[in-house]
Order: sequence, then structure tokens, then C-alpha cells
Amino acid sequence: MKKDLLSIADLSKDEILHLFELSDYLKNLLKRGRFYHPLRDKTLGMLFRKPSTRTRLSFEVGMYQLGGCAIFLSSQDLQLGRGETIEDTGKIFSRYIDAIMIRTFDQKEVVKMAESTSIPVINGLTDLLHPCQALSDYYTLWKRKIDLETIKFVYVGDGNNVCNSLLLGAAQLRVNMVVSNPEGYDANPEIMERAKKISNGKIVVQRDPLKAVEEADIVYTDVWTSMGKESEKKVRKKIFQPYQINEKLLKRAKKDVLVMHCLPAHRGEEITSEVMDGSQSIVFEQAENRLHLQKAILVELLS
Ligand code: CP
Ligand code: NVA
Repeated sequence: MKKDLLSIADLSKDEILHLFELSDYLKNLLKRGRFYHPLRDKTLGMLFRKPSTRTRLSFEVGMYQLGGCAIFLSSQDLQLGRGETIEDTGKIFSRYIDAIMIRTFDQKEVVKMAESTSIPVINGLTDLLHPCQALSDYYTLWKRKIDLETIKFVYVGDGNNVCNSLLLGAAQLRVNMVVSNPEGYDANPEIMERAKKISNGKIVVQRDPLKAVEEADIVYTDVWTSMGKESEKKVRKKIFQPYQINEKLLKRAKKDVLVMHCLPAHRGEEITSEVMDGSQSIVFEQAENRLHLQKAILVELLS
């Protein structure tokens, strides 16, 4: 039976750890200049309804490095933009290509695509989830030999897609996670409930960002206004101001705290340039690891 990657909730702890091991193997091969082409003659279709820099590049380069190829498909240029259904589109894709990566608004669209096609579907971000990002982020910490079960991981900002996937990952990997966001900008309630239940007390909400980051090992943030929410930008900029990751806030965390951001960042809003370019920031390492982790996903689903 074909496998999809629609949410971290579909993966067990062992499956996630296996992906980390495989990412490491692939990363080391690449660093040693060794060719490895298990996906020769395989094609990935990349369907985008939203913009992207990292996701598009890392999937495209990843397929190339694995011996296959990737095709960029903008929804505006497809018949999808003129009313062809996602189900029919999925059926057509399965006649030409071997897997689909999709970035869209509604999570239901990704599910529909997965149900209507016989080839693996990978979620490249929806309004609800961003599984490839969260997996790459936990891989980044694992790779640094950080004990995921003992750290205090604090997410400060909007309870958005990235936050939801980090929560699902934290639950599976037994990470102590604190989420700090203003009221009304919470993580998805079902996801929060599920994550809390699985984690057995290791996930909490602390609205006050100053209290939340006390003794934090990791402070993670993301944009205050996600793609599709642009009309709320002005209001959000005001409400989220106390949640900015700056030097003052970081003083409350552990001395060797690491700062994470999925990028793109809006410097001067959710994170200051001082922090983003500072010695504690690992944001570009996270971005690089998208490539290695997603290559592992591709090998798992396609070979
Ligand atoms: N983090 C991330 O998904 O970046 P892009 O929007 O550039 O793909
Ligand atoms: N939360 C952000 C993530 C971008 C990678 C968004 O959805 O726009």
C-alpha cells in the first residue's frame, strides 16, 4: 500500500527516529561527495498554491541529488485554477509522476488528493500543518545530540501551522513544550488536546512570554501573519508585540539557549536582527536540514 506524509500524527516515535537516522546517512554521503541515486527515473510533482523559497528548493534539489527530478506546478497555471477538481488532478498526476508534494490552504485538500491518487502525497504546508518543517527542526536538535526528552522547548508567537506540527512532534518525541501566544491566537484546539494527552503533562500553555521562556533551552518563533492572513497584518502586529524574540526576552532563558525560526522571518517583528544573526541562532542550519530530512522522506515513500 502506498504511504503519504500528511501529518506528524501519522508517524510513530520509532518512524520519526528512523527518518532522523536516514537523514543523517544521506547528509553524510553528500558531505563526503558520494553519489547515491535510489530515485533514478522517479519524478516528483510539486503543486504550489502559496509562495515558497525553502520548500520548493529543498524538494527540487533533493530529488536531483537522489537521481530523480522534480516538476514545479503552480496552481494558477494548471487547469485546477480554472475549476478542474483536486481529485481529477490527483488521478492525472498518478498517470505521469511518482509522488506529489502539495502546498495549499485547506488541509482537507491534501487529504482529498491523497485519497484520490495511487501515488504518495507529501504535505508541503497547509493552513493547519507544516510537518516537513517540524520534522526537520527536531532533526536539527537531534543531530546536535540534544536530549529531546529533557529540554524545555518554548514556542513564542502565533499558534499557527508550524506550532501545530511542532506540538504533534513534541508529543511523539516526549519533548517538554511550552506554547506562549496571545488569547485568540491559539494552536488548533484538537491538536493541542491530542498532543497534551499523548505527552502526559509535558505540554503546557503559558500566555506570559516572559514566564514562558524562563530557563528555556530552545526558543522558537514564526511570523505573526501567516500566508493567507495578510488582511489581519496590522492588528496582529500590535497584539503580538510583547511576543517579540529580542535580547531582553532571551536574558530570561538559559545562557546557552538556541533560537529557532522556520523562516522566512520578518526582522523587527517576531524576531530582531540582533537575535537572528546572533551566536545563539540556528535558523539557517534548520533551513539546510529541510533538504536532508525531506530526502529521507522521499527515499522512504518512493524507493
Ligand atoms: N519554511 C518554509 O517552509 O519556507 P518556504 O515558505 O520558503 O518554503
Ligand atoms: N506560518 C508560516 C510558515 C511559512 C513557512 C505561514 O504559513 O506563512
